[in-house]
Amino acid sequence: MPVKLALAGVGNCASVFVQGLRFYSGKETKGLWHPVVAGLAPKDLSVVAAFDVDSRKVGRDLSKALFEAPNVARRYADIPPSGVKVSPGILKGQVAPHLEGEKLSSSTRKTVAGELEKSRTDILVNLISSGSDASSEEYARAALEAGCAFVNCTPSLVLKNRVLAAQFGRAKLPLVGDDLMSQFGGTVFHKGLLGLMIRRGVKVSKSYQLDVGGGSETLNTIDEGIKMAKREVKTTSVSSEVPYKFETVAGTTDFVDYMGNDRTSYFWFEGAGFMNSGISVDVYLRSADGANAGNVLLDVLRATSSSARSKETAKAQEICAYGFKSPPKHEKFDVAYEMFAKSFVSR
Ligand SMILES: NC(=O)c1ccc[n+]([C@@H]2O[C@H](COP(=O)([O-])OP(=O)(O)OC[C@H]3O[C@@H](n4cnc5c(N)ncnc54)[C@H](O)[C@@H]3O)[C@@H](O)[C@H]2O)c1
Repeated sequence: MPVKLALAGVGNCASVFVQGLRFYSGKETKGLWHPVVAGLAPKDLSVVAAFDVDSRKVGRDLSKALFEAPNVARRYADIPPSGVKVSPGILKGQVAPHLEGEKLSSSTRKTVAGELEKSRTDILVNLISSGSDASSEEYARAALEAGCAFVNCTPSLVLKNRVLAAQFGRAKLPLVGDDLMSQFGGTVFHKGLLGLMIRRGVKVSKSYQLDVGGGSETLNTIDEGIKMAKREVKTTSVSSEVPYKFETVAGTTDFVDYMGNDRTSYFWFEGAGFMNSGISVDVYLRSADGANAGNVLLDVLRATSSSARSKETAKAQEICAYGFKSPPKHEKFDVAYEMFAKSFVSR
């Protein structure tokens, strides 16, 4: 039986993800990290509902909305008409800075929950803008009311809400998050180099990661409040890789319109070796943001569906530790991968 997904937020990440479902719907496996997770191939996932609040997207067929402004993600695959119309989503609390002054269209939690039930959604995937904390929590409540799992890809700390976490636990529904960790993005690259320095006996003293990109997500993330919240999530994730205190900063620092959906992360590491001799590293990483999320999102959703079906919600911790920057419990990234792979990946 196909896994039915609903998307909250039809932005760049959603665009590339849905294109990926199409790209991998046949025999193509080029660039696919794990062809089978929890017994499921990408073709076993289908999008049955979608929500946004931007009037340029609401009311349109998903296949069109995915390429509507202000989305800037590349076209990797042609998407035929889907028959899924983007519905008005939930808007509570802060509106994403890039949507200020735009025509918005929103609905109630009850209506959204009703649509999730009607479409028999298994998993609601939260891909709305950073900083929309109250809306993210409302989507989680809508998922709970509709009896579906919730995967929070945004940096809003939904899993830290103890009441919500307990309610999902009692309902035996997976609650997975927070803040998706890209396949080869700044966070995991930063963690990887720190881990290498530590494994080679270098005493790390300082590091930084300064991200620059285009697209509406980067524009939102340079808003001072959102920037500091997102920096906290990334910095905590990176720090968890080092067994002692050191100084580090990780986060988005600037928006460059013409970079589109691309991102460049600049890193600097400082440490000490033999007789306290200095060792430093300057390096940068370039990637396409939406595409960098695709493989991990595919993995996380297939594993979440298996955890929902078996009602083994304890397994959700393995999914969180592998696929997210702010899981309930941090693990070293390679340990988290092994735990996840052992439970879910067919090798
Ligand atoms: N590599 C990645 O793409 C990546 C990695 C980790 C986390 N994330 C997270 O995923 C989320 C989406 O990223 P993106 O690059 O697609 O952003 P984006 O700005 O391109 O898209 C966000 C979409 O959400 C919509 N939106 C805003 N508020 C909404 C609401 N209340 N209800 C419904 N829709 C709403 C916007 O209109 C837009 O279509 C962000 O929170 C980001 O931090 C993305």
